[in-house]
Parts: sequence; C-alpha cells; structure tokens
Amino acid sequence: MTQTYCRDSYHYAVNSRASSTTSEHESIVIVDLGSQTAMLIARRIRELNVYCELVPPTADWERVRALNPRGVILSGGPASVHDDGAPRAPDWALDGRMPVLGICYGMQTMANQLGGRVEGGREREFGAAHIYPRGDSALLDNLPRPMPVWMSHGDRVDDLPDGFQALAGTDSIPIAAMGDEQHRFGIQFHPEVVHTPHGLHLLSNFVFDICECSGDWDAAHFVTETVAEIREQVGGAHVICGLSGGVDSAVAAALVHRAVGGQLTCIYVDNGLMRLGETEQVVDTFERNMQMNLRAVDAGNQFLEELAGVDDPETKRKRIGETFIAVFEETAIDIAKDDHGVDYLVQGTTYPDVVESAGSGHGSATAMIKSHHNVGGLPDDLRFELIEPLRHLFKDEVREVGRELGLPEEIVGRQPYPGPGLAIRIIGPVTHEKVRVLQLADAVVMDEVRNADLYDDLWQSFAILTDTRTVGVQGDARTYGWVCAIRAVTADDAMTADWARIPYDVLGAIANRIVNEIPEINRVVYDITSKPPGTIEWE
Ligand code: XMP
Repeated sequence: MTQTYCRDSYHYAVNSRASSTTSEHESIVIVDLGSQTAMLIARRIRELNVYCELVPPTADWERVRALNPRGVILSGGPASVHDDGAPRAPDWALDGRMPVLGICYGMQTMANQLGGRVEGGREREFGAAHIYPRGDSALLDNLPRPMPVWMSHGDRVDDLPDGFQALAGTDSIPIAAMGDEQHRFGIQFHPEVVHTPHGLHLLSNFVFDICECSGDWDAAHFVTETVAEIREQVGGAHVICGLSGGVDSAVAAALVHRAVGGQLTCIYVDNGLMRLGETEQVVDTFERNMQMNLRAVDAGNQFLEELAGVDDPETKRKRIGETFIAVFEETAIDIAKDDHGVDYLVQGTTYPDVVESAGSGHGSATAMIKSHHNVGGLPDDLRFELIEPLRHLFKDEVREVGRELGLPEEIVGRQPYPGPGLAIRIIGPVTHEKVRVLQLADAVVMDEVRNADLYDDLWQSFAILTDTRTVGVQGDARTYGWVCAIRAVTADDAMTADWARIPYDVLGAIANRIVNEIPEINRVVYDITSKPPGTIEWE
C-alpha cells in the first residue's frame, strides 16, 4: 500500500483497485519503448479527440484488446536494437491485425523484427532536418514536400523488411519513412514534438485516414460516461474527498458530486499555509455555489506548532504530510460516524501520476530531488475503496472537464500550488508572522500578474520570503528588512521550466508595491534560474 500527499490531488492509494480499462471508445494504443516523449505522443493523440493509452511492451493482447484499439504507435526509446535486452515491439503490434506506426526506435525495432536491417549509428543525427517524400502514401498525404522534421537518432534502417517501401528520405538517410500494404509504417523522426511543425497533421493522417478513428473522445462524453460509472460503482454508499483548492481535486469532487450528490462529503484542511483568501474561495465555491457537503477544518495552529523551529525543507514536508494525514483521518472518522460508514475515497490522480508511478515502459530510476510524494501512511483500519475518476486524463483535459462541469475559471485555470504551501516559500523556520508577510507579498504578485494579463501564460508565479535581511532607506529613515524574491516560470510540465521574461515594468510595479505596502520587506529580487539546474520552489 502506498500513500502520497500532494496539494493538488490528495494522493491516497488505499486499497487501490486496478483501474478497469475496458473501453467503449475506440483507442490508439501506444507501446512505450522508453522514450521521454511517449507521454507527449499520447497528448497529441488526445488533442485529436481520440482516446489513447500507454502500455508497456510486455502488455498482452487480452489487456490491449479491452481498450478497443484501432491502431498502435510504437514510441521511440534510448536503446539500440543491437543492445542486449533491448525492448521489442509485441507480436500483436506487428502482425498486421491493425495499423501500426513506429516512431524512431519504434521504426527500427519494427524493421529489425520484420527482417530488415538496422545499421548501428555511424553518426548521430540530432535536430532539424527535411524529409523528401517519394510517391504517394496515406501517412504523408497533404503534407509539405519537403517537410521540416525533428530528428534524434543514432541507428537507422538500412534495409527494408520484405514488402516495405521507402516513403521518404533525407539528405543523410535514405529511409526516413517506410510503409507496407498492411498499414505498417515507420518514421525516423518525431512527429510529436513542436519542432516538427506538421507533426500533428501526420498523426491525424495515421489516426483518421489509416486507423479510421472517428474522434469520439471529448469532455462532454467523458462527463456523461464517468458520472454513470461512478453511480453504478457507488450505489447508495458514502464517499469522501479531500479538497485542496487545486484543480485536480476540485474537478474530481465535482464529477463525483454530479454522480452521487449528497452522498459525497468533501474535506478541506486549512493548514494555515494557503494563499491570502484561498480558504474563503474554496468554501465559497464548493459549499455556497455548488452546494456540496464540505467540512472545512481550520488546522493552521496545529500545522504551525509542528513546524516551529524547523528549517530543513524535507523535515517541513514530512511534518506537514503527517499532520495533514492526522487531521484528515480524524475528520474522516467523524464523517463516517455521522454517515454510518464511508466506503469510498475520491482521489484526483491524473494520467501522468499513473504513468509515473506505474511506469508504463522502462521507467528510469530518478534520484529523489524533493519528497513531493510518499509522506506518511494511513492506518490499516481506515479502509476505503478508491475512486479515481481522472486517472486517464491529462491536465488540460482535467481543466476541460472542470469547465464542462461548470466550475469557475478561478479554480479551473489555477496555477499549480504545492502541498506544503507557503512553508516551502519561507526560507528557515515558519512563523505566523512570516506567513502573514508572505501572504501579502504573494497577493501583490498575483494581483500584478493578473493585471498584466500574464497569469495564464505562466506555469507558476509567486513570492518567496528569504531569511536574509538588508539595509534600506525609506523616507529619512534607515530600514533593516527582509528580502523578498519573485519567481515566475514558464513550463509545459514541472519537469523542466524556464524563468519567465516578465516585462520590466510589471516587475517594477510588483517591487514598488511590495516595499511600499509591506513594511517588513525592504528589497525585492527576481529569480532568473531555469530548471534544471534550479527547482521551481526554493525549498
Ligand atoms: P520543484 O520545486 O521540484 O517543483 O521544481 C515542481 C512542481 O511541484 C510542485 N511542488 C510540490 N507539490 N508537494 C506538492 O504537492 C510538494 O512538496 C511540492 N514541492 C514542489 C511545485 O510547486 C512545482 O509545480
């Protein structure tokens, strides 16, 4: 049993049932051969309104058949087909029972397994290139000739398997795309990345013209089907859900509420480390506007007591995680008493969480940078069945579903916020006073970022209260106040990020207001570190 704590989607994996993956939707199955961009391929296919799932190369046909597949994509991967233990495409992907598209390593293993020849990398090709299509093919139909693409490979296909034709070459490789009569295709480049400008068009040729998908996956259908499934699963039982104020838990709660109404009770733990006005907004949205049963627990003092004198970031996270679990558990037991038992717990797990924790393919072991997840554990006697209605959705799809359910834009469009909240943005020990000062500074940042219409363009934007004090002068008086740092980043996901090029006058307005409105702060600096090597949060 694992359990994790995450502000955006209280992650409890308690008695987790394997998700039922029998699908009424047509789907594309993506075999993850270890590529960094496998998830990106999935996002692109979903952008085409076609459901898709990543599966490991070991997935058997029974599992895959339940997904109602119309076609397969073999992802790229870091291996060479000549390596010992290199992953192989499953037989069901290559035997012609449905169309298949191999991308980069996916093409190489397809060629190798079907009797072609793959040449070990004489020279790596990395970056922009052009392919020159030959003849007509459904895959490259209506695409520019030549077509700009993004290459990243060492090996290459030198001899085609029997029955295959070269569909395109580049200046440096003769076979950049191949295909046969059984709708088995391979491409040496990456259509999923933005550097292949017509990549989505190529994927849509594959998905619609070759696999004959109809594009039946959208938020409205998802809501209707999921609501019906939840109703059937839950029956007359009681359900609880941890609301964090973040997008995922909000949307998960709204979905379950649509399905079972008053049988759902949400728990919101105010840890005293939230942004200014955030607790009021959560209560307002869910209790007053959506009329959900909500237990808002004011546990700020308890959290701050646990954090007293703690300056190590990991210890802060651990204490916050443990305190959260204690408060949540106590509240859940209380609700269970009122409701004569609680059988289900809603969790806002999303698809990237599922893939990252399960590892659909070759999941690489990444060193622990910060213990975002895996804090503490629920006792064995508190047992719920899990409902994870978002476990197949990407973040942008979660937002779409939230809009479909009528959640306000302030919740649905929200920037991510870390579970430990302001505690990891206050360097050194956390005190009531520092939380208050940082809340005010943070509110200025939010205000000015919104005024400048930058909020939606930024992955995150916030203030940090450093533990450094500097000398300043205000009026005629010398001041000795705290340095506040501003962090704003752009990102597609939180794995990498770049510091945002916020206009100087917006930064100027933020700095001015902070030093003028908050006497404890007399200096403001802007963090211009990307990730890596920095992280987004300072702790
Ligand atoms: P870093 O700082 O590692 O953050 O670049 C990446 C993303 O994760 C968020 N974050 C957290 N989220 N619990 C959370 O739920 C945490 O302890 C935590 N630490 C960082 C961070 O805000 C960013 O979006």
